[in-house]
Amino acid sequence: MIRARPDRIPNTSILISGRGSNMAALVLASQSNNYPTRVGLVVSNKPNVKGLASATALGVPKTVIESAAFATHHAFEDELNHALEKANTDIICLAGFMEILSTCFVNKWQGRILNIHPSLLPDYKGLHTHRRVLEAGERYTGCTVHLVTPAVDDGPILGQLSVNVLPGDTPTKLAQRVNEAEHRLYPAVLATFAESLSHAL
Ligand code: GRF
Repeated sequence: MIRARPDRIPNTSILISGRGSNMAALVLASQSNNYPTRVGLVVSNKPNVKGLASATALGVPKTVIESAAFATHHAFEDELNHALEKANTDIICLAGFMEILSTCFVNKWQGRILNIHPSLLPDYKGLHTHRRVLEAGERYTGCTVHLVTPAVDDGPILGQLSVNVLPGDTPTKLAQRVNEAEHRLYPAVLATFAESLSHAL
């Protein structure tokens, strides 16, 4: 009997700069049965952040490549590329990664970098999304997972989840509910993305 060669499971690397709650949600999902990608590396561009301790607790290899310690952004990205290649990275997930990636870096990993943003893009790109949503009197907001292109918070949308704005909401309260929605959305979108990518590897 001739069997088709099983598709290789893609390797995901996650880039963080802080708390790492989305990273943890992705890792936990990836550790469940039949999830179509493995998280092989977590990279933080900042030392001593909470996400690094979470990665350790979850048993995922992690490293710090401190962006501020490099003479140029180009040198930082060279080191980052080296670590990603060493981990045989197929997919890069940005999860609260606060460094803007160069066009050169994005083009190298074209179509393989995902990001999560705490608004319903294309609305409310950039920072302080929840404060701006409340100031504008919106009735709902949400989160978006999109492919990364050279323009910030741009690129094809892969999935969105909406969250109602409630009476008495503050930016902190709203951020917490959007964050909870992110933890559901990102693993679901990554699974679909990885599943389709595995057929192309
Ligand atoms: C999330 O709200 C994400 O949308 C934004 O940064 C935040 C990161 O949170 N890009 P965490 O570090 O994943 O907890």
